[in-house]
Amino acid sequence: MVEAKKLFIKTYGCQMNVYDSERMVEAMGAEGYVTTETVEDADMVLLNTCHIREKASEKLYSDLGRLRAFKEAKPEMKIGVAGCVAQAEGDEIMRRMPLVDLVVGPQSYHRLPEMNRRLLAGGKAIDTEFPAEDKFDHLPERKALRGPSAFLTVQEGCDKFCAFCVVPYTRGAEVSRPADRLLAEARGLVEKGVKEITLLGQNVNAYHGAGAASDGGGDWGLARLVRALARIDGLERIRYTTSHPNDMEDDLIAAHGDEPKLMPYLHLPVQSGSDRILKAMNRKHGRDAYFRMIERVRAARPDILLSSDFIVGFPGETDADFADTLDLIRAVGFGQSYSFKYSARPGTPAAEKPGVEAGVADARLQAVQALLLEQQRAIQAGMVGREVAVLYEKAGRMAGQMVGKSDHLHAVHVTDAAGKPGDLVRVRIVESGPNSLGGQRV
Ligand code: SAH
Ligand code: SF4
Ligand code: F3S
Repeated sequence: MVEAKKLFIKTYGCQMNVYDSERMVEAMGAEGYVTTETVEDADMVLLNTCHIREKASEKLYSDLGRLRAFKEAKPEMKIGVAGCVAQAEGDEIMRRMPLVDLVVGPQSYHRLPEMNRRLLAGGKAIDTEFPAEDKFDHLPERKALRGPSAFLTVQEGCDKFCAFCVVPYTRGAEVSRPADRLLAEARGLVEKGVKEITLLGQNVNAYHGAGAASDGGGDWGLARLVRALARIDGLERIRYTTSHPNDMEDDLIAAHGDEPKLMPYLHLPVQSGSDRILKAMNRKHGRDAYFRMIERVRAARPDILLSSDFIVGFPGETDADFADTLDLIRAVGFGQSYSFKYSARPGTPAAEKPGVEAGVADARLQAVQALLLEQQRAIQAGMVGREVAVLYEKAGRMAGQMVGKSDHLHAVHVTDAAGKPGDLVRVRIVESGPNSLGGQRV
């Protein structure tokens, strides 16, 4: 028997990259590759990269530095760079990093098998096009890889052009996949045991795809898609991320109130609480509009858990602007958030302007993270004593323990000797730790 070839894949960045990595593994699976966890074993190493902040991009170059020794020890090992850095800097990577054999952008990875054949014939391969054909039409069928919870990319790209952000350049214009295809992919996942699907898009709530033919066709927004997915037997939970405040349409807000399978969690990044900075960021909405949106969402689903992203130290951000951000956070109350120090990215309009002093930005980051952590802990502590639904993902570290996620996306450790991944059970929360809850099955 011929031994299978081995693929080592490392994923950086957002969930969309996680999804893309799974699909790349499936594409290479059709070429006879299986995944390995160790670089030494690998016939091919694929780095699926992120370009969002300087630190993220730098990781690629430090990892390539480390791979050099492996490649010297095993020259036939192929090294590929995929994802957003590949898209942004592919030509330069090829020119400056002789150890790299392959560069593939996020829109062309369905061509990986054919590119790999070129490598095996002794060449190199680069593809950072935005091809006219749809990559999803050329990829093999899904395998459920991550247990009972799966990602499903429904929309890609971004037309918003926030002044700080590279995504419109690395991922291209907004494109939505047709509902029929998404429903088929979702049904396939459910048949393989998936119970929870998180719909992904750089701007997922800007989803406007061709409606399902069996359901009257037309143009569907995200709410129509969610409602159609909710009718799939065996699919218990639906989530979506990431959303833009300007694309929260009325029917999506309504769905949070009346679609039980749509989970009570909303990641709605606001970035800043200052009107002046929001304008400079080209976010196209002010703080009051954000407050009004949150009010409407909470009117539909009072117990919804809100999360956001924040950038501190954006060019021109004053102490008063930053105070507005802290004020917005106090006014809303977030259950979970990500905050970042502004990073000037090549080619973005904001990169032309001087950033705030590094020490000031560091201090603001610490302050905003302390406040967000305090809110997260308070909301977690408020769960103690309540009964929640938990979808088990895997066994816990301790015997007789399972780990899963609650409806509100809290990680929960549950004492349950009989539990197995995929069980959706009722749990009484008995304690709140730093990053997770503890509970007993009821
Ligand atoms: N589409 C999503 C965000 C994608 S990027 C949205 O519009 O919200 C994820 C997060 O990275 C952003 O929300 C932002 O907070 C952060 N980010 C993006 N560009 C950045 C930059 N240049 N510097 C620091 N953080 C950045
Ligand atoms: Fe980037 Fe803004 Fe688009 Fe989000 S909405 S991906 S932050 S440009
Ligand atoms: Fe990073 Fe690209 Fe996602 S830049 S955050 S991997 S869309």
